[in-house]
Amino acid sequence: MPIAYQDKTHTFQLDTANTSYIFRVYNDGYLFHEYWGRRLRPVDLTRLFKGCYSSSFNPNWPGAAGGMDSLDLLPAEYPFYGSGDFRSPAVEAAFSDGSRLLNLTYVSHEILPAKPPLPGLPSLDGGDAALEVTLADTATGLTVVLSYTVYEDSDVITRHARIVNTTGEAVRVGRVLSASVDLPGINYDMIGQYGTHSRERQIDRVPLRHGMQAVESRRGASGHHSNPFLVLAAPDAGETAGEVYAAALIYSGNFLAAAEVDANNVTRLQIGLNPFDFSWKLEPGESFASPEAVLTYSAEGLGRMSRNFHRVFQGHLGRVKETKRPGPIVLNSWEATYFDFDEDKLRGIIQSCKGLGIDLFVLDDGWFGHRNDDTTSLGDWFVHRGKLPNGLKPVIDCCHENGMQFGLWLEPEMVSEDSELYRAHPDWVICKPGQPYCKGRNQLVLDLSRPEVVAYLKETIGRLLSENDIAYIKWDMNRNITDQYSLGLPADRQPELLHRYMLGLYDLLEDLTSRFPQVLFEGCSGGGGRFDAGMLYYMPQTWASDDSDAIERLKIQWGTSLIYPPRCMTAHVSAVPNHQLGRVTPLRTRALVAMSASFGYELDPTAFSKEERAEVAEQTAYYHAMGDLVAGGDFFRLVSPFEAKGNGEAEGAAWMFVSPDQSRAFAVYVQRLAVPAGPPRRLRLRGLDPQAVYRIDELGADFGGDELMYAGLALPNQAKDFEALRFTLTKKV
Ligand code: GLA
Repeated sequence: MPIAYQDKTHTFQLDTANTSYIFRVYNDGYLFHEYWGRRLRPVDLTRLFKGCYSSSFNPNWPGAAGGMDSLDLLPAEYPFYGSGDFRSPAVEAAFSDGSRLLNLTYVSHEILPAKPPLPGLPSLDGGDAALEVTLADTATGLTVVLSYTVYEDSDVITRHARIVNTTGEAVRVGRVLSASVDLPGINYDMIGQYGTHSRERQIDRVPLRHGMQAVESRRGASGHHSNPFLVLAAPDAGETAGEVYAAALIYSGNFLAAAEVDANNVTRLQIGLNPFDFSWKLEPGESFASPEAVLTYSAEGLGRMSRNFHRVFQGHLGRVKETKRPGPIVLNSWEATYFDFDEDKLRGIIQSCKGLGIDLFVLDDGWFGHRNDDTTSLGDWFVHRGKLPNGLKPVIDCCHENGMQFGLWLEPEMVSEDSELYRAHPDWVICKPGQPYCKGRNQLVLDLSRPEVVAYLKETIGRLLSENDIAYIKWDMNRNITDQYSLGLPADRQPELLHRYMLGLYDLLEDLTSRFPQVLFEGCSGGGGRFDAGMLYYMPQTWASDDSDAIERLKIQWGTSLIYPPRCMTAHVSAVPNHQLGRVTPLRTRALVAMSASFGYELDPTAFSKEERAEVAEQTAYYHAMGDLVAGGDFFRLVSPFEAKGNGEAEGAAWMFVSPDQSRAFAVYVQRLAVPAGPPRRLRLRGLDPQAVYRIDELGADFGGDELMYAGLALPNQAKDFEALRFTLTKKV
């Protein structure tokens, strides 16, 4: 049984293949977290917690036996405000008399064969067993339901909380985190992500200190600047060994992921909706559900942690389930033409894709309204007759005639002041009339907390998709939310705006993705400004960054792979000198980096030489043959692009994909900076069958799986910066 309840000790034990998560109903009903880590046989851990849980200035909890225990010292399963636990609570609520005091105690529980749905929010489906524990506030009757689901084979437990207003009066919820876990000890490195536009998902790894430390977003989107997940890793944990705890949130708006270490060296790991700029009024009978948190523990380092996330997302997260198959190889028009195109130019590009093995052509920004630069027309989703006098149809037909599908760029959540939509509905934007407001890329954000705005977008985009043969939509979002004020909400509900915006967006995406299941939606937000599990649920791949330089992409894609499957990132071969940095890298390197994700090109193919055309045709043929490993294989990070060893070795980066049956694999090594007369280097592979013999095509030789993993592969000396090597492995029978 993945979830067991022991009556005698009132203990819940949630087991996955390799882990256990244990909590208990303590004395008078308080939920007490006991353990999360390697799998344990059924166990009574009460003796671990005998001892002194009371000391000066740690107030004793009146409910505890003998009044001797302090909730400030005990490990909580879902800490609440007003209990004497001065650490960060998971939940806060204000009642009609102004009181914010809570006393949440156990009422009942239910073990379910599978998880109940989480309406209105993206979440994992299925699961091997689910648990709901109902708590109530002793004074007011406010109900809090804690939900858990176990995914045995990926070592994942999900959590979320639901508050039900059973008090008979209005309640204002100020904080409702999805998960909170008190772990023993301070000896962890906190790994989080930071970045900015074109430099997303860089990795921070710092030892925990006492006090509060967090990653968060306050931008109305998960953001380029942070990502909704947090890792606590043992200081010695690396890719292949060491203890790692990780939490991710299936949400695309403001989040908080925090670690708080108290004076007794207990570390409180929390994740959920950011309480900053948030509160929610619940009328009697109403309920509020938090987004879902995905928790995993790995005793085998960060590599296993990532594969746990990849497996559970590809197995259970909305449309990400479709990413177990390779996606189409695209050619995107953005870096080929920017805003400067007409029908003839597009025809030339499309026709020159013939014979290159490209599956789909994407018409990016500039095709609508009268948009010739980024100052106008967002919201006017009808064809720019100045550029395309005959509409989209001839362009779509031209794609089909040349053996490709057609895809289109949209930025539905935005509006330009110079647009018919804005002139008709100036009140549909997020801002306060009469007050100066910010613009980002010259545009304003539509107020998706308003049902009429969401209904309009459902209708407009639905019509575009019904009237045209569109196989793919790139859904962009090119600014964050400022001027957080909605004309659609009463004064006391203004702090609900940013979460209501997300609910409106999810409603819109749910509608469009279910009405148009044949359309592949790709997420984008100035590159990877909203690369999160919430968006992936509807749009299973995301343009990872507006930086298309292969060497910068090494870090961005490595960082992204910590949690998201490589197949969920899109990466394109772009022209050199690179448009963002001016760097010149070999076509081969650009392709090997891009094909380690959802593969495509973003350049003008009419400019290819004969040799380049032949090379591109070889690259797409390789991806058509091997892309199933990127999609459905296991991913192993080998050499980190974040490391510079400083020992005379050239700086590199390497990774590999292995088929689930270990019969096929491909590995990529990219040289960053070469060094003269550098020491010899070996690349040790991972994830292979040690007993098997593998043929490496590029070397024309056979190797033992054990040899490749334990002794390694001698890397040839590469004389030049940015060169790349590919190794294609096939198990010999
Ligand atoms: C954003 C995207 C780019 C491109 C442009 C178009 O920056 O990230 O890929 O689509 O918008 O304006």
